[in-house]
Amino acid sequence: AKNPIRVLVTGAAGQIGYAIVSMIARGAMLGPDQPVILHLLDIEPAAEALKGVKMELIDAAFPLLKGVVATTDVVEACQDVNIAVMIGGFPRNEGMERKDVMSKNVSIYKAQASALEKHAAPDCKVLVVANPANTNALILKEFAPSIPEKNITCLTRLDHNRALGQISERLDVHVGNVKNVIIWGNHSSTQYPDVNHATVATCDGEKSVRELVADDHWLKTEFITTVQQRGAAIIKARKLSSALSAASSACDHIRDWVLGTPKGTWVSMGVHSDGSYGVPPGIVYSFPVTCEKGEWSIVQGLKIDEFSRAKLDATAQELIEEKSLAYSCLN
Ligand code: NAI
Repeated sequence: AKNPIRVLVTGAAGQIGYAIVSMIARGAMLGPDQPVILHLLDIEPAAEALKGVKMELIDAAFPLLKGVVATTDVVEACQDVNIAVMIGGFPRNEGMERKDVMSKNVSIYKAQASALEKHAAPDCKVLVVANPANTNALILKEFAPSIPEKNITCLTRLDHNRALGQISERLDVHVGNVKNVIIWGNHSSTQYPDVNHATVATCDGEKSVRELVADDHWLKTEFITTVQQRGAAIIKARKLSSALSAASSACDHIRDWVLGTPKGTWVSMGVHSDGSYGVPPGIVYSFPVTCEKGEWSIVQGLKIDEFSRAKLDATAQELIEEKSLAYSCLN
């Protein structure tokens, strides 16, 4: 039998936390034959709720779940973890300034970075979900210099999956037959959902999404804004932000990273820019990536048209501004 993998979930008493822990314990993240030990971290005001989550995990009697560490102590939470899913953070409440939210999250991510650096397994893979996800990941990297840069990523897979979903609805094809959409840039409303290279598997082979949709106007306007604004639409409908889909997409992100992407398929991940596609280095930016043997690499050589170029640059610009706001909070 395989040795258990230790998975840290921060913000585990929250909405996404509640949804993701059972997915992980059922093998949706690391595979149906991979035992796991869950490390759950939340803060003192949520300590009772966290206990409740642990009780439910015990009650569900998951065969793959070999242990649960539920704690409000960040050091205990990070001890020897192989995967860290960072969902805990300070929410943006109505009327709060961007700078104040940034400042709260910068201090949280700075502290958690140090704990991961000192106590996590040396090859720990980190996924930041909490917003501002790209910039939280950047801060985490800054304060965990011994964790390889390649091991620190942020979640844009939910946006990627939303884009697949919109194309599937529009063309009335199963979502599993749609692939290779791209989310470029920030997990924010400046992200660029790009279908220029996306395809659909049909009985006559693979066809391009652009050809099948045959409505450039829709692809350049409503499709993009629907994906960009989907989070807000969910909040409007549920009076709560997306949780099930966020949790499921976070599992997809780690699963593909660890176990590999299918041949001929790429996914979107927020990773450190190496300058590919003219995106400035020094920011965490969502790119199309393939994964093999636990390593992602940015898909190279895709043609970027003028329309896309402007969108790639605009979302990079926003990330540069977020970065300087974050750094101004460090002092
Ligand atoms: P939530 O408010 O239900 O849960 C957040 C949890 O984090 C709470 O239990 C809170 O006590 C905990 N927490 C706060 N500070 C913490 C700290 N320092 N250490 C550990 N835990 C801490 O929020 P929800 O709905 O679960 O969302 C979590 C985050 O994920 C938010 O920042 C949200 O904006 C973000 N998000 C990101 C998405 C993405 O695609 N990247 C999609 C959806 C949400």
